[in-house]
Amino acid sequence: MKKIIIAIDGYSACGKSTTAKLVANKLGYIYIDTGAMYRAVTLYFLENYVSLTDPHAVVQALANIHITFIHNPHLQKNETYLNGLNVEEEIRKMYISDKVSEVSTISEVRKCMVEQQQKMGKKRGLVMDGRDIGTCVFPDAELKIFMTADMMIRAKRRQEELLEKDDMVPLDDIIKNLQMRDHIDTTRAQSPLRMADDAYLLDNTHITIDEQIDFVINLASSRMIQD
Ligand code: DC
Repeated sequence: MKKIIIAIDGYSACGKSTTAKLVANKLGYIYIDTGAMYRAVTLYFLENYVSLTDPHAVVQALANIHITFIHNPHLQKNETYLNGLNVEEEIRKMYISDKVSEVSTISEVRKCMVEQQQKMGKKRGLVMDGRDIGTCVFPDAELKIFMTADMMIRAKRRQEELLEKDDMVPLDDIIKNLQMRDHIDTTRAQSPLRMADDAYLLDNTHITIDEQIDFVINLASSRMIQD
């Protein structure tokens, strides 16, 4: 079987990571959550008072940032580590969500993240989710999926995820955050979020997780047997 790259892009809180993780598990592939990488950079910048408007400070800070993913067998998921510290919970908090899109517009940050992501995909056999995977990181990915869903559904799902971590955030705040991020992510100068010409649209407003997984696996299977 040929090892392929599956690129999953789309709007915030559309279920990209849930889909990507399950597809990777089914195929025995590595799963990389690139949003977590931008979130970890944001956490580092905030903790170290890095000026977002000073390219020199940004480049210097990036040189001190080491992001890794380590599998947690108890939770059966990869967790994000920033310079050796588990930051998985911290990077999901609202104060990071409120700043991460702005940090992601910085070209030095994007260049650094994209280089690391391309290295991770050298051996293929990988599912990667984000905003620019099919358009910029792996334009040659064998399968590209672009995910979207109704705003209210997205906001409610995100609220439930935060509640599971005892973080009660009003729905209005979540909707505002998602709208703000959609706007910044789709209008930024460098590799804005857009559907690649050869991507398949997956709107999961009215379908189950199993149906989403089947949709992606069916498309992936046909590509894995191609030469
Ligand atoms: O997937 P997420 O919601 O955790 O991503 C957080 C932010 O990171 C998102 O609003 C935009 C940015 N991002 C990006 O610019 N490019 C990516 N490949 C992934 C995320």
